[in-house]
Amino acid sequence: MSDLIIYFSRNGENYFGGELKNIKKGNTEVIAEYISEFTGGDLFKVEALSEYPDDYMECIDVAKKEQQNDERPELKQYLDDISSYDTIYIGFPNWWGTLPMPMWTQLEKLDFTGKTVKAFVTHEGSGFGSSERDLKKLCSCAEIKKGLSVPGGNVYDVKDTVKAWTEE
Ligand SMILES: Cc1cc2nc3c(=O)[nH]c(=O)nc-3n(C[C@H](O)[C@H](O)[C@H](O)COP(=O)(O)O)c2cc1C
Repeated sequence: MSDLIIYFSRNGENYFGGELKNIKKGNTEVIAEYISEFTGGDLFKVEALSEYPDDYMECIDVAKKEQQNDERPELKQYLDDISSYDTIYIGFPNWWGTLPMPMWTQLEKLDFTGKTVKAFVTHEGSGFGSSERDLKKLCSCAEIKKGLSVPGGNVYDVKDTVKAWTEE
């Protein structure tokens, strides 16, 4: 039995403390890779079939509409079976206060009965927002442990914190 890291992360133009920057690797992906390094866990990246715009402002609009319409965007690939894992790490950026809609598409397909869930979020000030409440619905039947919240601009400074959290 082993660990699995299911995450969503977007590279491209993003906002860091009032400044737009182009990043090659998404913030959440950096944390997901630390977790994999520390736990030996498998990584599964949730990717929408229709890619989000590179332009930050355009992406903001697309994501807001998806959330308002409660959409379940199609994914490039789906994970169907998590029965061989014990602990599932679930990572995402805070998008408009909660998980990006592709995470809803993926998580609703999985059976979390008997699993331990550890969630992590990267954000620009809102922390988990309402995502912890949403995760309780999305991963009902799982035991949800204390989550980890990291400001997007700090992901390269928190490796030790992430290690300690995986060991909790
Ligand atoms: C569409 C969109 C919506 C966002 N909404 C929020 C928000 O409501 N609150 C917040 O603190 N940060 C928000 N952010 C900032 C991201 O959560 C933050 O930059 C995060 O670290 C991005 O992670 P990623 O690089 O893994 O995609 C938003 C970013 C995008 C692109």
